[in-house]
Amino acid sequence: MSGGDSSDQTKQTMTTVRAANAAEKMRGRACVITGATSGIGRAVAIELAKQGACLILVGRNPVRGEALASRLCRQHGSDSASFVRADLGSRREVEQLAGEIRNRFAVIDVLINNAGARFDEYGASPEGLERTFAGNHLGHFLLTALLLERLLLSLDSRIVTLGSGAHGVTPPAGWILSEANYDRKLAYGSSKLANIMFAYELSRRLRGTSVTVNAFDPGGVATRLGLNNGLKAWLKHIGYYLRKRQLLSPRRAGRDLVFLCTAPELRGQTGGYYSGGRKIQSSPLSHDRSWARALWRISLERSHLNAERLGRAWAYFAPEDDASSGESFDFLIE
Ligand SMILES: NC(=O)c1ccc[n+]([C@@H]2O[C@H](COP(=O)([O-])OP(=O)(O)OC[C@H]3O[C@@H](n4cnc5c(N)ncnc54)[C@H](OP(=O)(O)O)[C@@H]3O)[C@@H](O)[C@H]2O)c1
Repeated sequence: MSGGDSSDQTKQTMTTVRAANAAEKMRGRACVITGATSGIGRAVAIELAKQGACLILVGRNPVRGEALASRLCRQHGSDSASFVRADLGSRREVEQLAGEIRNRFAVIDVLINNAGARFDEYGASPEGLERTFAGNHLGHFLLTALLLERLLLSLDSRIVTLGSGAHGVTPPAGWILSEANYDRKLAYGSSKLANIMFAYELSRRLRGTSVTVNAFDPGGVATRLGLNNGLKAWLKHIGYYLRKRQLLSPRRAGRDLVFLCTAPELRGQTGGYYSGGRKIQSSPLSHDRSWARALWRISLERSHLNAERLGRAWAYFAPEDDASSGESFDFLIE
């Protein structure tokens, strides 16, 4: 046997051992995945179920959601997965969703804020807000806030929010577009910038706890994203990445995301932006604290969150002035 073969074999063995260790670590761990009915979220659900995690799958399409949950339960045991239907763009539905998740999981180990959509035309959420910002950012902001107490009870819990290369825009003042000034690229880009800024700001607020928060750019992935705008628009998006030879399968992008949620070597790593298994840079604006503070205040207002509704998790969600004067608390389990 040549030296090359033996080193390849060693690498292969190490990869297998690392995968087995990761799988062992995920057994019985409670994971919530939004946007699990399609694309990257679906691929992540399949991989995490294989590793023994207990999943709550969130999406709007009950046919696809129930079918995936049944398949995972058949393959990996009846606790593997359940589907909860919810529109992240509706405040009321997110509140109900959070209630259902809290009923099922006393402790949450992983929250993947993955659901996302792009719209060529303006549309409003049930509460009358531009739907890209409402569904991609506000829904995840509110869901995370309402689940935070359960995440703080895990010894190593991870929140990962999906960003995108499209985040390099300057959002409108007040962040939320109206019908009159709607621009599809600005709407999607602003929502993805909000996803990344939310991850950075929350990671700062949660430093010293057992919860890490990171953002993830999957790259160009062949999914249903944009198909709602028609086949032509979708083919244009796919064609762009195909020509650059950068189009990934959902499975490949899902593996990178699972790595971020499970890798033992990333335990304690927080406030990063990752792609393809390594840290990358996000736009200069994404690091701007004054923009982040404004986004935080708007998100709190639009989500109707306050100290009374959020209880002890308010210490991490209050506007900065209030948080610094408020009483903090320690959820860490010795
Ligand atoms: N594909 C890419 O090239 C690419 C690049 C950069 C970033 N991303 C990000 O990756 C994430 C996953 O997208 P994908 O590419 O996998 O697209 P996808 O195949 O269209 O999947 C999107 C998922 O989000 C769910 N979803 C969308 N809006 C929702 C809402 N209002 N409420 C609840 N669920 C909602 C969809 O479920 P239902 O249809 O059941 O509601 C679906 O499960 C998104 O955040 C996207 O911005 C994708």
